[in-house]
Amino acid sequence: MRLQVKLLFAVAFLLILTSCSDFGNPVVAELPLVPQEVQSIFDQNCLACHGGSGNLYLAEAVAWENLVNEPANSYSAIRVVPSNPDSSVLWNKLIGSDLFGAQMPLGGALSTTDLNIIENWIQDGAATR
Ligand code: HEC
Repeated sequence: MRLQVKLLFAVAFLLILTSCSDFGNPVVAELPLVPQEVQSIFDQNCLACHGGSGNLYLAEAVAWENLVNEPANSYSAIRVVPSNPDSSVLWNKLIGSDLFGAQMPLGGALSTTDLNIIENWIQDGAATR
């Protein structure tokens, strides 16, 4: 009898333990983020000027939302049109096409490698990470 009682307690204890196992993991809403290699380009070349909450904010938590299918502030066009770099304000400014004002980063240009990463990202649908 004593053994049965002990077993009962052991089983009950295990049940309590397993039923609590989800407690430390609250469900966190996932932010849409641009791929890491694209964000690194923004971090290194753009945040100096686009790091505030003003005009165009390219910090990691908001870059995707502020770019994809978003109308530009200064131009009547969309910043990033998925699968269509040529229609995207971002891409035109990065290659200095003159369609939408000055080339970015202002006063310079991205390397060919970085340009390819961003062009491929837009061309492939501007997906999240
Ligand atoms: C030295 C400061 C500076 C840097 C660095 C810079 N920008 Fe800009 N950017 C500006 C200014 C000023 C404007 C507003 C004038 C204009 O539209 O050209 C602007 C405008 C833009 C716009 C148009 C926003 C809109 O909605 O009208 C885009 C897109 C943009 N920048 C992307 C970038 C990207 C991407 C980088 C990094 C590769 C970058 N910029 C780096 C200063 C900067």
